[in-house]
Amino acid sequence: MVTDAHGAAQLVADVLCRLLTVKRSAVLGLATGRTMAPAYAELSRRYRAGLVSLANATAVMLDEYLDLPASHPATFGSYLQRAVIDRTDLPPESLIGPDVHAANLDQACRLYERRIHDLGGVDLQLLGIGSNGHIGFNEPPATAATTTRVVPLDRRTRLDNAGPFCGLDDTPTRAITQGVGTILGARRIVLVALGTSKAAAVRAAVEFTPSEAAPASALRAHLDCTFILDIEAAAMLTRAPR
Ligand code: F6R
Repeated sequence: MVTDAHGAAQLVADVLCRLLTVKRSAVLGLATGRTMAPAYAELSRRYRAGLVSLANATAVMLDEYLDLPASHPATFGSYLQRAVIDRTDLPPESLIGPDVHAANLDQACRLYERRIHDLGGVDLQLLGIGSNGHIGFNEPPATAATTTRVVPLDRRTRLDNAGPFCGLDDTPTRAITQGVGTILGARRIVLVALGTSKAAAVRAAVEFTPSEAAPASALRAHLDCTFILDIEAAAMLTRAPR
């Protein structure tokens, strides 16, 4: 457990830097969202300080909105461009995501799964968690067997993510997401949850019997998964976290 977003950012950057030191060509699974922004800012600070290089790494997107123009600033691709590519030495061509503009989206999802497989899988998957318990955009109910696919977005997710858009009607209604099963294929997973709005989802993920109603609960089957929680996000846990 950490006291705040700054503490979480330090821990995530520590994990990334350690991995990139032992494996310069690591495949990094990058979540987006408000939670991850301080971690990417810290990664970029360490890059500028000469402490880490992403020049040989590959970054794999967790999810992406559908039905937005590629130039839209709220796409997750634009987010990762600004947060990671513009601020580290990760080559632009090393950021890989599903083809959200493909004529055949189901085929694009299958190709994305294949691409991740052909890269040798993800070494480290970073995750946030939705206030409704989603990981990636695997809205509840979502099974541990799901793979990359087109998903409708819950109203709650759209409300949570409406900030960069002009109201709820302008907020995307669907996305492509890696499945819960795809995420579980990563060799290591680090989930970060910050703030009171995540407390119920964290408790369901960590303490309730794993179920499709709490997609993040599937992470408990993973052998190397860490939750980084601030005090507010851990507030509903009945067993004390470390
Ligand atoms: C983002 C993603 C989502 C977010 C989650 C939390 O790529 O897959 O699962 O991690 O919605 O979002 P924030 O961090 O904005 O609260």
